[in-house]
Amino acid sequence: MAIIIDEAKKTFHLQTNHASYLFQVLPTGDLQQLYYGARLNEPINLTNLTQVAIQDATPAQEVAGQELQWDVINQEYSSFGHGDFRQSAYQVTSPAGDRISEFQYQKYQLSDGKQRLAHLPSTFDDNQDQSQTLTIFLHDQLAQLDLQLNYTIFPEQDVIVRSAYFENLSTQTVQLPRALSLQLDLPDSDYDFLQFAGSWARERHLRRNHLHDGVQSISSLRTASSHQHNPFFILARPTTTNSAGEAMAFNFVYSGNFLDSVEVDQYQQARILVGINPDEFCWQLKPHTSFQTPEAILSYTTAGLNQLSQQLSDFYQKHLVAPRFAQQERPILINNWEATYFDFDETKLLNLADQAKDLGIELFVLDDGWFGKRDDDTTSLGDWVSDQRKLPQGVAHLAQEIHQKGLKFGLWFEPEMISLESQLYQQHPDWLLHVPGRKLTPGRHQYVLDLARPEVVDYLAQALSTIISQTQLDYVKWDMNRYITEMYSAAFAPEQQQELAHRYILGVYQLYERLTTKFPKVLFESCASGGGRFDLGMMYYAPQAWTSDDTDAMERLLIQYGTSFGYSLSMMGAHVSASPNEQLGRKTSLKTRGAVAYFGDLGYELDITQLTPDQLAQIKQQIQFYKHYRKIFQFGDFYRLQSPLAGNHNELSWGVVNAEQTVAIAAHYQLLNQPQCLNSRLKLQGLDPKKRYQINDQPATYSGSQLMNAGYILPKLTKQEADFQAQLLVIKAI
Ligand code: GLA
Repeated sequence: MAIIIDEAKKTFHLQTNHASYLFQVLPTGDLQQLYYGARLNEPINLTNLTQVAIQDATPAQEVAGQELQWDVINQEYSSFGHGDFRQSAYQVTSPAGDRISEFQYQKYQLSDGKQRLAHLPSTFDDNQDQSQTLTIFLHDQLAQLDLQLNYTIFPEQDVIVRSAYFENLSTQTVQLPRALSLQLDLPDSDYDFLQFAGSWARERHLRRNHLHDGVQSISSLRTASSHQHNPFFILARPTTTNSAGEAMAFNFVYSGNFLDSVEVDQYQQARILVGINPDEFCWQLKPHTSFQTPEAILSYTTAGLNQLSQQLSDFYQKHLVAPRFAQQERPILINNWEATYFDFDETKLLNLADQAKDLGIELFVLDDGWFGKRDDDTTSLGDWVSDQRKLPQGVAHLAQEIHQKGLKFGLWFEPEMISLESQLYQQHPDWLLHVPGRKLTPGRHQYVLDLARPEVVDYLAQALSTIISQTQLDYVKWDMNRYITEMYSAAFAPEQQQELAHRYILGVYQLYERLTTKFPKVLFESCASGGGRFDLGMMYYAPQAWTSDDTDAMERLLIQYGTSFGYSLSMMGAHVSASPNEQLGRKTSLKTRGAVAYFGDLGYELDITQLTPDQLAQIKQQIQFYKHYRKIFQFGDFYRLQSPLAGNHNELSWGVVNAEQTVAIAAHYQLLNQPQCLNSRLKLQGLDPKKRYQINDQPATYSGSQLMNAGYILPKLTKQEADFQAQLLVIKAI
């Protein structure tokens, strides 16, 4: 493990197993970024590594006979106003109103391990033996402000975690209108920008474009990481593929408004910024208070995008997801939402549970509609007490019945929301985020509680704890079904209103923190109208998330494919639903629906009491199959084999491999049956080239090298299976 520091030259070399990150202190006390890329061997010759000036009239400071042109220099954490005209990492507004800062290097501190952050989800290394943390202390003399830049290296996964911390030592309030978590200045911009864009029911579709001059960014101002843009992105060389080439990944441990931007400057250098979106943000840094940014994650590889995803996945399991859930197999669930919607009673639910038990399902999840008087989505959010009309003996009794059947029991909540038609609104109309005298903008007929207020978080902690205890709950689905409008809270001073979007998210984290601490065994699954808050902030508390409200198997392929770049399969809730599909009306076979949902946390979300004996038998078989290979599906190494963007856009394939390389399961999917095509050839990855393998228990054997290089020609499916086909290969070493 190595953070190598040259005290004399004031250079810092952060070395992971395959990457190097290098910066130094300039004579002005500013930090200059020197290099990020494939690992360099020490000693490093610093001459000829970067430029600090070019021959023109660019504003410059002269220090020790050296001209420093800030618009040319690659920096670690830049400010605006001294002649660097690119977008900056932070800004401080002084009491006088100017926004000029001069943070100068003071000292560094090096320690083993990585502490968790106090009020934010964060990466960790609880045994303090897998990582090393470097803190750089900077000070602005005139403003009396401290700035700490934190870097933790996790060598094994080639990850660097960064954050910044501001502290006001003066007697006057200053403002922080911009405080990002990560800046990385790269000396060239020959990269493709891989982003994961979408909308409700079509989340995280891969988009790949070459960087262009100027600023390109993805962001959210929805007070959620959003369906539209995920805070995860990749910069990859144009030639980089899933199996080869240089790439770096950026992710953000945060669930609210974010900004990810890349600016290609006049010299074709690239500046990357990741952090809280400065729009709708301005923090009042009062005397003797501090501000900690969320953490940003950086990872590097020269071995392609599959490797990049795998090292991130390994990193999340070891240093982000609660250790009690990392590597812990997730239960196969039945969710009643697409089976019954709001129309259920106890008998109907118990019938579903009986059938589920018979099929081998392990967890029964009662979704929306069990509380208040909720027959549709217009009422009752906030009233977390069971609906006596649907459940005359209460939800605790239902829980008992379900538990007695040998099933785990889970419940849906949407804690952050309130309906006007609710008792909570009668009691606390002021708890709803709104601007007095202004119109309200409902979303799905509902409004948002002011989670920036401690008393609201207290109320919710109490209300949810009561139900969780009464029902001895095993699982919570925590939903959030609208973005925030009219962000204003009468509980805060006028100048603090721009802190609200962040304070709201801190309130959400606080509630999660309390509930997960009090009920450590309860598995939380986050949801935001499907995948509207599919981010690492959520994953810290809730290790899996409902990937999308779109349960159509073909649509899911693109969603799960895109999601897999930045997140693990064990983070993706994946359900088999009815055919024709509820969202799109598309008909797909149970075989295809299963073959897609296996690559995630398998669940069923359809009325299993209405199926034919043949369908029930198929589901039973699917569940047995999944249980047998569950560990590999959820925690094996995942390989994207064929991109949906490649070829004729008609095929996609992927696979999982166990750590021993003795078992792999690959899946090939074909959208439409086409005439006069050769059979598809599947080239596997991740096998041991020397081992011999059998496929689907057939007698023929193949070396790993043959399956990976020559590939395996798949059989043609029958015309009956025609469109929307899936083929599974179970590949076992002999
Ligand atoms: C959201 C969720 C669904 C379901 C409904 C219930 O749309 O994403 O899975 O829970 O709410 O209202």
